[in-house]
Amino acid sequence: MTTTIFERIRKDHDRHRQLLDTIADTSGHSETRQKAWKDFYYDVKSHAAAEEETLYAKLMEKPMGQDDARHSVSEHKEMDDIMEELDGMDMSSSGWLTRFKTLKHDYEHHMDEEEKDIFSKAKEVLTEDKDGKFADKFEQRKAAERKLVDKKAEEALTE
Ligand SMILES: [Fe+2]
Ligand SMILES: [Fe+2]
Repeated sequence: MTTTIFERIRKDHDRHRQLLDTIADTSGHSETRQKAWKDFYYDVKSHAAAEEETLYAKLMEKPMGQDDARHSVSEHKEMDDIMEELDGMDMSSSGWLTRFKTLKHDYEHHMDEEEKDIFSKAKEVLTEDKDGKFADKFEQRKAAERKLVDKKAEEALTE
């Protein structure tokens, strides 16, 4: 059976929900927490970029999808800002946890909204995805974005 872009995105979301829980359930800068944070940070960045270039690019083409697409893309930016802030902070500080809880709350809401509202609208637009074409495109964009994020991280280290 072919995987649709909706199933593909939902699979990522489930992983992101698990990682958020792991980070919330751990403390200080334990190895488990650090690893979960890095996994989350890189995966969410490439996931959001791939969504923008597939799902939201398609929604933007239709007048009925434009408001939703703009809303979600602006939420991606807000969450990216919080992730950058958190990445530069000491994760064992109480300030980090407070900020992380905001990110967790906002991102869980964002994923729920995508699955409940955006998918049903996008299904009308992405009718061509019966053969999984957009799921493949999502996968390719995500891999390409992941490389870019890795490159930026490397450059930051050598600066
Ligand atoms: Fe998203
Ligand atoms: Fe998403």
